[in-house]
Amino acid sequence: MGKKRTIGMWLYQNGGGEAIGKKIKKKLKERNIETIDNVNLRHATAKNGNIVHNGIKLNKLDLFFSYNAGEQTQYQVYLYQALNRVIPMINSYEAFNLTEDKFQTSFVLRQNGIMTPDYRLCHRDDTDELRRIIKKWDKMVYKPTDGWGGVGLTKIESEANLDMLMPFLNQMDLRYFYVERFVKYDNTDFRVDIVDGEFVGCYGRKASGTDWRTNITSGGSVFMREPNDEIISIAKKAAKVCGADIAGVDIIYDLEKERYIVLEVNGIPAFATPEQEKMGLDFNDKKIDLIVEMIDRKTKK
Ligand SMILES: Nc1ncnc2c1ncn2[C@@H]1O[C@H](COP(=O)(O)OP(=O)(O)O)[C@@H](O)[C@H]1O
Ligand SMILES: [Mg+2]
Repeated sequence: MGKKRTIGMWLYQNGGGEAIGKKIKKKLKERNIETIDNVNLRHATAKNGNIVHNGIKLNKLDLFFSYNAGEQTQYQVYLYQALNRVIPMINSYEAFNLTEDKFQTSFVLRQNGIMTPDYRLCHRDDTDELRRIIKKWDKMVYKPTDGWGGVGLTKIESEANLDMLMPFLNQMDLRYFYVERFVKYDNTDFRVDIVDGEFVGCYGRKASGTDWRTNITSGGSVFMREPNDEIISIAKKAAKVCGADIAGVDIIYDLEKERYIVLEVNGIPAFATPEQEKMGLDFNDKKIDLIVEMIDRKTKK
């Protein structure tokens, strides 16, 4: 047996997360790796050279596994960044930070030859650019760069539509506008999970009749869906160029350009919920095994 290793973990508890956390802990224990659970950086304090949580110096841990979607405050992210300087983190702060931002992610994907919807980022005063773009594209989607669950996405279908929207956007005191060409697709997507460069599982989501967004929060529903090799390879490449150890890659098929495109890369993709498992989504164990294996490897001394 090697030297004793200890990691910190912060994993979401809802939607079956608690049971997943227990399984991960147990499997790590079998490899002689201790897990300190529920390490919420919200309750940590930086004291000179240490980041302390519950009397434990997190900077002395062998690794920190942060997997709690949607609950990150500026303070938590700030400490995430600091901790990442001294111990391995999953995901790394760089990957976490990148995938939290839709523009930065699209930029990196495009740089690496991965197709995304056409997009523009322009200064908030550059409304001329928005006007040129809506003329060129016909339809576009305004997206908050840090959003989730389809919240705040606004479809702009004409120049008149844009004129109507501008006062609202101006009121929001944004620094920039991020817009994407509205992609003609069949209102379904592929969510492909990748861990440590390996394909874990895939499911589909379908927008409800009244919405163009596939998000569950926008009324979308999950269905069983097999990916093809091309989809898997795009997802692997997207995870890799984002430096994401764990990634959920959202892919749609562009009906006009007849190709798959990456909509976004999620750094904290949820495990299948108990209801989804009943539907037949059975990738959780594989995902757990790959995560455990990766933690083992990254903490080997
Ligand atoms: N450029 C686009 N063209 C058409 N539909 C889009 C486009 N971008 C997003 N959507 C739809 O909106 C949903 C949410 O967009 P996404 O970029 O994944 O943001 P979120 O982080 O809110 O999920 C997608 O799942 C897709 O159904
Ligand atoms: Mg999405």
